[in-house]
Amino acid sequence: MPTNTPNIEWTDAGTPRAAAFDDVYYSDADGRAEAEHVFLAGNSLPDRWRETPSFTIAELGFGTGLNFLTALSAWRDAAPTTTRLHFVSFEAHPMTAADIRQALSRWPDLGIDADALLSSWPPARGFSTRDVGAARLTLGVGDANDLLPRWQDRADAWFLDGFNPAKNPDLWRAELMAELHARTAPTGTFATYTAAGWVRRNLIAAGFTVAKINGYGTKREMLVGHV
Ligand SMILES: C[S@@+](CC[C@H](N)C(=O)[O-])C[C@H]1O[C@@H](n2cnc3c(N)ncnc32)[C@H](O)[C@@H]1O
Repeated sequence: MPTNTPNIEWTDAGTPRAAAFDDVYYSDADGRAEAEHVFLAGNSLPDRWRETPSFTIAELGFGTGLNFLTALSAWRDAAPTTTRLHFVSFEAHPMTAADIRQALSRWPDLGIDADALLSSWPPARGFSTRDVGAARLTLGVGDANDLLPRWQDRADAWFLDGFNPAKNPDLWRAELMAELHARTAPTGTFATYTAAGWVRRNLIAAGFTVAKINGYGTKREMLVGHV
């Protein structure tokens, strides 16, 4: 799969949309509120942060970085200053800095961290690590199916944020979910906005215990789980 720059269209609300996948990067209503509901609360965060020396979040689909910056902001408010957040995200098609800036301009308080994120952009192909505010960010640029088997760490929480599984099936494959399960800490969890039946079955087959809970906004259900 080529790591080409995505062709971005914009909705009336200013949400980026990838023409090639025919899908938005996050909810048109409020992407940040969606990130807080689906990915933070879905992984019992910030509660799990309060008593840990370090915490690793891993994500499929970096996109605009909104999930990362939302997590970083919540981490700063909730976690003791002595603790460390490591955020690892896999992205096959990094957006341009200009498109990311435009998307994130909807949340001006994220601006300082966005500037730090974009001070060196685009990220190199393969794995690269940088500090953004209080967090260590590792970006894996390339197809997650190729890169995840090369990632040696384990996630305490997974943000599964590919595009709509019907449009982006590669990022929800059974083999990828099995790799992901193998790279999850013994107390690790995942959350995703989708409740698609075949994604749920792939996660169960990988070894996760899966539950359906209320989704964000107009989405009736989403999936959460643990190893
Ligand atoms: C819904 S968007 C993610 C939104 C993002 N989490 C954010 O905070 O803006 C899905 C992302 O998955 C990426 N993607 C799609 N297929 C992929 C693959 N096979 N490997 C890695 N990334 C992929 C897309 O390029 C896109 O950035």
